[in-house]
Amino acid sequence: MKYGYFDDPNREYVITRPDTPLPWINYLGCQAYFGIISNTAGGYSFYRDARLRRLTRYRYNNAPFDFGGRYIYLRDDASGEFWSPSWQPTRRNLQNYVCRHGMGYTVISSEYGGIEASTRYLVPLDENLEIWQLTVTNRRQRAADLSVFSSIEFCLWDAQDDATNFQRNFSIGEVEIENGVIYHKTEYRERRDHYSFFACSEKITGFDTQRDSFLGPYRGWDNPLAVEQGRSGNSVAHGWAPIGSHQVKLSLQPAESRQVVFVLGYHENSRERKFDPPNSQVLNKKGAKFALARYLVPANADAAFEKLRSHWNELLGICQVETPDVHTNRMVNIWNAYQCMATFNMSRSASFYESGIGRGLGFRDSNQDLLGFVHMVPGRARERILDLAATQLPSGGAYHQYQPLTKRGNNDVGSGFNDDPHWLIVGVAAYLKETGDWSILDETVPYDNQAGTETPLHEHLQRSFRYTLDHLGPHGLPLIGRADWNDCLNLNCFSDSPGQSFQTTTNKDGKVAESVFIAALFVLAGRELAEIAEQRGLQAEASSYLSEVKKMETTISRHGWDGEWFLRAFDDFGRKIGSKENAEGRIFIETQGFCTLAGIGLDDGSARAALDSTRKMLATQHGIILQQPAYSKYYLELGEISSYPPGYKENAGIFCHNNPWVMIGETRVGNGDAAYDYYTRINPSAREQISEVHRCEPYVYAQMIAGRDAPTHGEA
Ligand code: GLC
Ligand code: GLC
Repeated sequence: MKYGYFDDPNREYVITRPDTPLPWINYLGCQAYFGIISNTAGGYSFYRDARLRRLTRYRYNNAPFDFGGRYIYLRDDASGEFWSPSWQPTRRNLQNYVCRHGMGYTVISSEYGGIEASTRYLVPLDENLEIWQLTVTNRRQRAADLSVFSSIEFCLWDAQDDATNFQRNFSIGEVEIENGVIYHKTEYRERRDHYSFFACSEKITGFDTQRDSFLGPYRGWDNPLAVEQGRSGNSVAHGWAPIGSHQVKLSLQPAESRQVVFVLGYHENSRERKFDPPNSQVLNKKGAKFALARYLVPANADAAFEKLRSHWNELLGICQVETPDVHTNRMVNIWNAYQCMATFNMSRSASFYESGIGRGLGFRDSNQDLLGFVHMVPGRARERILDLAATQLPSGGAYHQYQPLTKRGNNDVGSGFNDDPHWLIVGVAAYLKETGDWSILDETVPYDNQAGTETPLHEHLQRSFRYTLDHLGPHGLPLIGRADWNDCLNLNCFSDSPGQSFQTTTNKDGKVAESVFIAALFVLAGRELAEIAEQRGLQAEASSYLSEVKKMETTISRHGWDGEWFLRAFDDFGRKIGSKENAEGRIFIETQGFCTLAGIGLDDGSARAALDSTRKMLATQHGIILQQPAYSKYYLELGEISSYPPGYKENAGIFCHNNPWVMIGETRVGNGDAAYDYYTRINPSAREQISEVHRCEPYVYAQMIAGRDAPTHGEA
């Protein structure tokens, strides 16, 4: 069953009914100002960092989970009837509902009682603001007197604190209202130099900035008192919950159309120019006024939209393929690249599955993301590489995550995910191949952001490689540390108390448990590094890498081969994981995929055998599962992987991320058809027809699809 269709020429997914199985979202913004928007206008906005600089509020674990957003209400002032043209929050029976998610913009249109409304949401390039461009058209035979109400709920900046610290927060909310523009300035009186503003292009007849006044006591967003009564309360927020809402009256003749533009933006002042006049507590609003003078004008909003479109046409035009398969074309030419850009910008830190308060950007993840977008924005890839390298530790190890606002390593998670360092090599290699910009290797970069520790980037890569050689286990395989690619295979954790972190609780000395996956990654990264050295005329360095790589390959075939497939790891007792000797977790996808992708076992037939075993034991119609048999109970010595119910997440779920490793492996043994077959199984476009099963967006690769052991097999 489908809930919409692909419009390939326009590079849009068109949703034709609002009640999709899950909120189907899009991302607004691609530089510093970002927003998440669902097909019913739910979602939130932030500047750079979803946790530390949140503009609008998100209420966690809500039902539905996109609730709270950029909601507009229309009211027929003759009858008193009101509705939301994006369906939520009033959920009236709309006609002709359509949501178009495009490249960096979303348009939601519908008709109700003869009034057509269409809102285009976008973030202009190079601006820290979002535009909602509403067009209202009267399709009735008679004139219509309408009220338009906008609404957003401000977040008091630090999203984590905003969601928890009510004893303070209910007292600190502050706004200013000037010429109909609502300025949110909580904490501006003290250490913040930033504010947000929410404005409307039309003359307003009223506004609200205090939530309770707008909604009325004991009411929700589906039924605000101000909208019901057709009259804003002109409330000024002092504490409690500052919101932004404007009321605009429109009188439309039959067939008449009017545009109302709303702008929500962010601005930072310098400390010296915070207040205007200087010795007052009044916000210096110049920055906002400058931006508003431009973007509240419909023609300029149109121009921003056109500019955004050509930006994306250019970016996507860099790599286009033409194959006989529509699903492949569509994903490779449009949505794949688009998703890579979203993950580059947000690296899984903000979505409806990552709350935006839980984590920064992953070191491994961000380096991997590079591979998918480096050809589109090499300049930003360069910057990202240098930022990531600056969080590397002197040992060559890396912080697992970093905060985009501060560009510092995240101490909560720390380091010790022993695959991390190699992804830097893989990322830099991709950058070099794409750009030929060898100068990046001479760029000096500190370790752990400590001034005085700078070395050329090249040395960072050397230390990455060295890190593994300094951390080898009893079989000569790399020690796994807290985890490798599989964050949930925690072999040194042995966690027995609820609430402990599986990744950071470490009870073992970490000198025994080894990862065959890291060994394969070492082989791949080592070859890249050797090639880099060779290109720079460092012959001796190159050969030393290659001899270490050779040694590792021998170790893998001696200790990492189980007869019909590659082992996954050795646990803290030195016992095999991912072996025919195991009752559960006998075979894992990661090593079959990554060893064959890295070219290990191509000569002696083990690559072919590993891929055949994968097909036999792990392949399903919905993709290749992570391991089999699923763990039926919790294993103290394996960690989080066995904490999930069978078939979900790392316990035998289908990860869209590692499936392609097997596809690449198949191409390396010359079996392109098998690669294509596997690709089709997880290609979201090819799964569009089963949207009621898949549930997640048909234009997005999900992190995970439920595996064969799950009662909801195939659900993403
Ligand atoms: C998540 C993490 C990624 C990890 C994967 C498997 O996607 O972001 O780093 O490799 O899960 O555990
Ligand atoms: C990955 C996994 C998730 C795990 C997390 C821990 O995102 O998919 O299950 O909890 O890593 O870092």
